[in-house]
Amino acid sequence: MNQDSKKKMVAEAAMEFIPEGAIVGVGTGSTVNLFIACLAERRDSIQAAVSSSEASSALLRKAGIEVLDLNSTGTLDVYVDGADEVDRHLNLIKGGGGALTREKIVAAASRKFVCIVDDTKMVDILGAFPLPVEVIPMARSYVARQLVALGGTPELREGFITDNGNEILDVHNLKIIDPPALESTINQISGVVTVGLFAQRRADIVLIGSDTGLKRVP
Ligand code: 5RP
Repeated sequence: MNQDSKKKMVAEAAMEFIPEGAIVGVGTGSTVNLFIACLAERRDSIQAAVSSSEASSALLRKAGIEVLDLNSTGTLDVYVDGADEVDRHLNLIKGGGGALTREKIVAAASRKFVCIVDDTKMVDILGAFPLPVEVIPMARSYVARQLVALGGTPELREGFITDNGNEILDVHNLKIIDPPALESTINQISGVVTVGLFAQRRADIVLIGSDTGLKRVP
């Protein structure tokens, strides 16, 4: 089975977690795009969506789904998003698509975070995928030096500006043994907007598409 079929499998499976009449938190990326297509088919049974990126907002609107401002909704029942890496404790690396800041906000404001991935994303230790860190542009070099001191090799994502007008450093060569601790440490560097480690608010459920079918953790 190819990667796209696995992504489609988990996108469809996530629909089981969407309550009738819900305002659904929607992530960003190719797996989520397939989830948005599933949501579109059931658009009359949901109320609206809160989106984590301009790209997802555009797709949702095109599908006829209303996109609400998080400030007007209160806590969401469920947030559905993909990930770049997932460990067995459901800690994540996210931000490959650059939407990590709004993703983290919507995840934090949701009761349940359902993460949808194909099995290539499952790892023993996070860090083979370069860790995205969104930075205020004037702090880029300072933050990069601090990340080097932590053992990483930061690389500016050339030509990329986030939906929030910031830049991204992709940090290579990290072996992330204690994800919540590293998340706190990087959060405390002045100029960091968001680190793409989702450990303090990790996924509650991970749906994994594999050759042998759908797997769910826990
Ligand atoms: C975007 C993300 C995505 O969830 C992550 O990059 C996975 O994307 P895809 O579903 O395309 O593999 O964090 O910022």
